[in-house]
Amino acid sequence: MTKPATDTTSATMENNAREVGSTPERHVPNLTPEFRRDAPKGATTEAIDLSKETPCFQLNALNLHYGSNHALCDVSMMIPHKRITAFIGPSGCGKSSLLRCLNRMNDLIDIAQISGEILLDGQDIYSKNVDVPELRRRIGMVFQKPNPFPKSIYENVAYGLRIQGVRRKSVIDETVERSLRHAALWDEVKDRLKSPAMELSGGQQQRLVIARAIAIEPEVILLDEPCSALDPIATAKVEELMMQLKENYTLVIVTHNMQQAARVGDYCAFMYMGELIEYDTAEVMFQKPSKKQTEDYITGRFG
Ligand SMILES: Nc1ncnc2c1ncn2[C@@H]1O[C@H](COP(=O)(O)OP(=O)(O)OP(=O)(O)O)[C@@H](O)[C@H]1O
Ligand SMILES: [Mg+2]
Repeated sequence: MTKPATDTTSATMENNAREVGSTPERHVPNLTPEFRRDAPKGATTEAIDLSKETPCFQLNALNLHYGSNHALCDVSMMIPHKRITAFIGPSGCGKSSLLRCLNRMNDLIDIAQISGEILLDGQDIYSKNVDVPELRRRIGMVFQKPNPFPKSIYENVAYGLRIQGVRRKSVIDETVERSLRHAALWDEVKDRLKSPAMELSGGQQQRLVIARAIAIEPEVILLDEPCSALDPIATAKVEELMMQLKENYTLVIVTHNMQQAARVGDYCAFMYMGELIEYDTAEVMFQKPSKKQTEDYITGRFG
């Protein structure tokens, strides 16, 4: 990891994000007058301010290359604790790549090369002495397509505990129930815990995968387009679940759904061709973005 000499304060990071492709201040009236009108229960309503948040991740001049493809260019930002931060931007702009940098999933891609710095609670996650499996336990990940294991509902949720060597049935039972309740799935599956997970609907499978992620008590949950394969009802359930989860976890979500980013995001980052163009509260991003590129994207003029 190259260590750049960058100021690591969140305010500076935010300013850096604001400076990329700077345009004069403009007022964009009523871009989304319905902002948060249909937000799930639990959506943050108080005024929030990035400079007052506790940092979870601090990214400093992060660059990612896949061979000669420069996929992330000098990304600097602070991702706050126990908030939902949404990454938006057109296909191929680097959202999933950025998400995968946060739990070192890009380590699994041979041609991926990273420079810069990512701090989690102040610790460099790319330093040599980091225990990567433990890091991935702390930072769970949920993908676009629900990926339950070909096992029972119960065994899917128990899986992480078994890997950790937990043997006591009472502990596993209790964790399975707590995780399924937390993932708002318990009532739908409590009478068929031994049934194959593959028999669940897509929306139930996605909540099962979230239950599996939280069973091992992560600190952060990364969600890459978690609702893109779900219908509006299942999407609403997962969104409500995200609002509940942020009481205990930091959530980072990638979404192509602007309404979803506006409904659930506390903060929103707009990316374009590997660069972080603008990063602010979701309210500012969807009501008064400072960059024309952001406005064009969220109003559907490109992308
Ligand atoms: N495993 C990989 N190997 C090589 N290049 C990759 C790999 N994954 C992504 N890339 C490249 O990195 C760039 C960013 O891709 P990424 O998947 O992060 O975009 P994205 O914003 O998540 O797009 P989408 O919205 O379509 O999911 C693209 O140019 C893509 O081709
Ligand atoms: Mg992606």
